[in-house]
Amino acid sequence: MKNKDIVEAVAKMVQKKFEDEASGHDWWHIYRVWQTAKSISKIEKADLFIVELGALLHDIADWKFNSGDLTAGGKEAEKILLLFNIDQNTIQRVKDIIDQVSFKGDAIETPMSSIEGKIVQDADRLDAIGAIGIARTFAYGGNKGRPMYSPNIKPQLNQTFESYKNSTAPTINHFYEKLLLLKDRMNTQTGKSMAEQRHLFMETYLKQFYDEWNGEL
Ligand code: NI
Repeated sequence: MKNKDIVEAVAKMVQKKFEDEASGHDWWHIYRVWQTAKSISKIEKADLFIVELGALLHDIADWKFNSGDLTAGGKEAEKILLLFNIDQNTIQRVKDIIDQVSFKGDAIETPMSSIEGKIVQDADRLDAIGAIGIARTFAYGGNKGRPMYSPNIKPQLNQTFESYKNSTAPTINHFYEKLLLLKDRMNTQTGKSMAEQRHLFMETYLKQFYDEWNGEL
């Protein structure tokens, strides 16, 4: 099978898995990360096959498992890749990306060991900021029953992974606890400049939000 056909087949499998799952984990997030990672790869020098497989499988653990097993994603990805007779070296490189990619709170460093992983992580972080990031953040907060904004509840920086996961803070706080920090955590030059543009958009958005909240003319 050609690499291109493998990527298409894996994309179809991932889409099907996520669509069959009622928990609302979102194929379209995967799709955006895949497209963005491809765009970054056009400029940064990387192995496109590894980037595409890493992007498509980066959240595969969330499809089925959501407990604390941080290697669940890598194991699930391996099962899928073995269906396509992919060599062990390639599988290992994809698994490394998946196990390293998740963001665990702003106090915890999550270094990526390969350029391909850096690109997938940048693409994943880019999907958390800008117009899509704002929409995702409010959708998530609404789903959890959180208020949009409470002026008296201040953002909490430097949280542990536990407190980050269990936060019940208003959605606006999440901008300060995660979204606005991401532009300084990009790995690649291309990712950085995409993040700068999306960051500026969020700052404009927040200014408008507070102006409207306070009834400014
Ligand atoms: Ni993701």
